[in-house]
Amino acid sequence: SHSSSSVSFSVKAQSVALSQDDLKKLAAEKAVEAIRPGMVLGLGTGSTAAFAVDQIGKLLSSGELHDIVGIPTSKRTEEQARSLGIPSWPSTHPRIDLAIDGADEVDPNLDLVKGRGGALLREKMVEAVAEKFIVVADDTKLVKGLGGSGLAMPVEVVQFCWKFNLVRLRDLFRSLGGKAYVTDNSNYIIDLYFKEPLKDGFAAGREIGKFEGVVEHGLFLGMATSVIIAGKNGVEVMNK
Ligand code: 5RP
Repeated sequence: SHSSSSVSFSVKAQSVALSQDDLKKLAAEKAVEAIRPGMVLGLGTGSTAAFAVDQIGKLLSSGELHDIVGIPTSKRTEEQARSLGIPSWPSTHPRIDLAIDGADEVDPNLDLVKGRGGALLREKMVEAVAEKFIVVADDTKLVKGLGGSGLAMPVEVVQFCWKFNLVRLRDLFRSLGGKAYVTDNSNYIIDLYFKEPLKDGFAAGREIGKFEGVVEHGLFLGMATSVIIAGKNGVEVMNK
């Protein structure tokens, strides 16, 4: 019958698995709903944040959004914003209403590891002053404890004698690590790999920050005001 075929169609449609990119896009577009005309926006970096920037561009060109300014957190995002016609004047806006960005790890307290895309310094500067900071991610980013993903935690260090810091960081965490690449700020990234989740992220952040020549690290603690996670069963918003 017609009705049963429409049911089987809808069941079929639901059973089409959403890709990880679909989920990233869902989370990103949900966050963009929080944007109001007149806002100064922190524009994140990475594949998930890029979906948010795309959506902002679309809403601007359709006229649904206007009078916003974006503060891009990387050269990559700056190029994307420019190509979409999103106005951005980073140096003239000391306040940011809302930042939207991805994350590498999200723990149950909404603390984060970020920066695998290498943009952690600019991201942290922007997200620390933002009135609201919405994190967007697919559910593969959820961890019980920070450092638990087995993926790299980046630390940005000045190039001069960077090996001093490589050795100190490895010793501090009894972890593996190596130099990864040069950042937008002409520093190096040292990627650290933890053997187990950090017991105390705040203590770890303080210890890392004590080393001379460390510019910033990828632990973003107490900064997110909400996290939007997209998974197979829908989009979940977690608020601080
Ligand atoms: C870049 C970041 C990214 O937000 C993080 O790496 C997540 O990236 P993606 O959305 O591509 O998974 O912190 O410095």
